Amino acid sequence: MKNSALAHHRPQWKTHIGFLLAAVGSAIGLGNIWRFSYLCYKNGGGAFLVPYITALFIVGIPLMILEIGLGHKMRGSAPASFASVSRKWEWLGWWQVIFVMFGIVLYYSVVISWCLSFLFFSFNLSWGQDPNAFFFKKFLMVSKGPFNIGDVRTGIIFSLLLVWFLNWLIVFKGVQKGLERANKIFMPLLFILIAIIVFWGFKLPGAREGILVYLRPDFTRLMDVRVWMDAFSQIFFTLSLGFGIMIAYASYLPVKSEIVRDSLIISGVNCLFSLFVGLGVFAVLGYMAHTTSVPISSVVSESIGLAFIAFPKAISLLPAFSRIFGVLFFGSLVIAGLSSSVSIIEAFTSGIVDKFHYSRKAVVSSLVVCGFLGSVIFVTQAGLYWLDIVDHFLTQYGLVIAAIFESIILGWIYKSNRLRQHINHYSSWRLRGWWDICIKVAAPLALTVILVSSLVEELSCAYGGYSRLALVLIGRDWLIYTLFFAILVASHHWKIDPRERMLS
Ligand code: PHE
Repeated sequence: MKNSALAHHRPQWKTHIGFLLAAVGSAIGLGNIWRFSYLCYKNGGGAFLVPYITALFIVGIPLMILEIGLGHKMRGSAPASFASVSRKWEWLGWWQVIFVMFGIVLYYSVVISWCLSFLFFSFNLSWGQDPNAFFFKKFLMVSKGPFNIGDVRTGIIFSLLLVWFLNWLIVFKGVQKGLERANKIFMPLLFILIAIIVFWGFKLPGAREGILVYLRPDFTRLMDVRVWMDAFSQIFFTLSLGFGIMIAYASYLPVKSEIVRDSLIISGVNCLFSLFVGLGVFAVLGYMAHTTSVPISSVVSESIGLAFIAFPKAISLLPAFSRIFGVLFFGSLVIAGLSSSVSIIEAFTSGIVDKFHYSRKAVVSSLVVCGFLGSVIFVTQAGLYWLDIVDHFLTQYGLVIAAIFESIILGWIYKSNRLRQHINHYSSWRLRGWWDICIKVAAPLALTVILVSSLVEELSCAYGGYSRLALVLIGRDWLIYTLFFAILVASHHWKIDPRERMLS
């Protein structure tokens, strides 16, 4: 097939807003609510915002433009796009979509299923007086350690089944019918629900103190490299960068597209949304501290459960409408989560379809079955430990290493000014030389410094107090297997040269 014919045959977003909503839908997810709030809480509230905003400007926005520009130019999924740069780098595209599809999404879907369970619990406020004990002891029944697997939690597995079914339903219908339509309904609904929750939170007694903790940075915390690592990897996680998602979504863009403007909109809306949610979270924390007379820093024992402890507690303490509040809050979390999880299934599917030309529907259905089965380990009594370890390794090492390679390959080998010219050719907002400097120097340098220093930290003090064996077998090896798998898939030959789809 000819270049133009291929470009033509690729499905396209029906409307521009459809693309924007899908990209924002992918970016905004549990990462903005569950992950951002617990990282912020763990890393000293306002202190976390300094590296977070730094990371947004140094790596977030420049890489967003890079990924959208690449997908637009190469008209292909992440593997096809990197293969078009050079067959040598195809493994990177596969690694991104594989460690997300066979890693991040597996536990991410489990967190969505917790939200779904909590939506049902909200009807009769089942968490009672002590949501902390409810969450860890009754709901998750957390075992003693990562190797004490225990039983599968039956209640959660049903929610999980429903989550994977919804994932399947949306992706199965394809870009236009499934994703575009689902996001058009889900995203505006989510904004309205969250705004109600945040403004409600402001009125609670003690909210002011909570918000002050959030906005006042404690500069001594900035000396800790883990705070920086958390912030930088959170920027990738929250913007869905290094996942191969933005590359795949951009490949469905029409030829004439506003790449720079759209990248700024997606990054800006996503991060403002997180900052906004943070206001609500800390208002609620302030309220909890006020009602229980405990300092804010100790209202929640295990930060990873913040959203599932602080919110239920606050919901119970509300004078009225607590059940509706609960249903709305957890309902909006489920919606936010689904629009992200479907995006990675889409990114992986488009990689497979681009290379092997299998039927899209067959790929989606088999992926969903594998995804469900792979999630089961996170639904066992040791699930929380596995989630914590796998999340730590995949986001902090996987995403960051992939981003270093991405910026070096595209910045130095492919040459960022070639991509810049392409982007400027199609968009009315022009990119200048600062962008090349970010891609070629600032981003890889900042990421490498953070990566090396957190590796040193990792070796001197085991993450989260886990045994070294657990970290190696569950975390590090997970990364290595996905890399091995990626190299294997990349070595397979292409039926049609991926470069044929490129826009000149
Ligand atoms: N950006 C998403 C979020 O913040 C993360 C994500 C995207 C997770 C895609 C899984 C799949 O929640």
